[in-house]
Amino acid sequence: MTGFVSFVGSGPGDPELLTLKAVSRLKEADAVLFDDLSSGSFLKHAKPGADLVAVGKRAGRASPKQNHVSRLLVDYAKGGGRIVRLKSGDPGIFGRLEEEITALKAEDIAFEIIPGVTSATAATAAAMIPLTRRLSSRRVQFVTGHDVTGGLPEDLNVPALADPMATTVVFMPKRTFPALAARLFEAGLPPETPAMLAENVSRPDQQLIRDSMQGLAQRLEESISDAPGLILYGSLSEDVL
Ligand SMILES: C[S@@+](CC[C@H](N)C(=O)[O-])C[C@H]1O[C@@H](n2cnc3c(N)ncnc32)[C@H](O)[C@@H]1O
Repeated sequence: MTGFVSFVGSGPGDPELLTLKAVSRLKEADAVLFDDLSSGSFLKHAKPGADLVAVGKRAGRASPKQNHVSRLLVDYAKGGGRIVRLKSGDPGIFGRLEEEITALKAEDIAFEIIPGVTSATAATAAAMIPLTRRLSSRRVQFVTGHDVTGGLPEDLNVPALADPMATTVVFMPKRTFPALAARLFEAGLPPETPAMLAENVSRPDQQLIRDSMQGLAQRLEESISDAPGLILYGSLSEDVL
């Protein structure tokens, strides 16, 4: 009999931010296919003898191609049993979920999606600020800082991203942020707009760097660490700076 796939969000890293439903799916799973950022202590919840398969993709490192990961997921599901596909944060946010769902649908494989705590809300919680504000930030936008080639996406909605009244969260931002910031300044976003680089959010080595957009762009031109990071900017809160 064909198996059943649960796409499960593992949250941003803190094992206590794993949902109860995520834990119960991990306990039942016969196989867990996990990303780099979903490894480590989360896997302690898997039952003894479950197959634990690393399928991680991290910028700048050799990693399995997406179609290989989708194929592997289909093969495991065809083998029967309960399969967990563990993805960091929320599985539906910049997690290549669509490709994997398409592959399952093509083979009539049943699945469910268990949401997780996204690193975006974990970052504002860590900074002790809200993501929205009643009067000054009525809009939140999540955007990826790179396309499939690793460069800044060409089709960015620059006027929307230059809106100082929105809170913008840039995922995978570090390599392309100086170029993004330059485009946003040209479009009218003030260089002194408050910004924050949040690295390793909710992990023991969490680091929050508060600066202006221009200051952050300069820092990232000088050096970039390997740590997973997000950049938030816009109508954050005066407290950020
Ligand atoms: C492939 S995306 C997955 C995002 C994930 N689905 C989410 O909702 O957080 C990976 C990117 O998410 C961000 N990210 C994930 N975990 C993070 C963490 N603990 N701290 C900072 N950024 C994180 C980084 O921008 C990282 O490069």
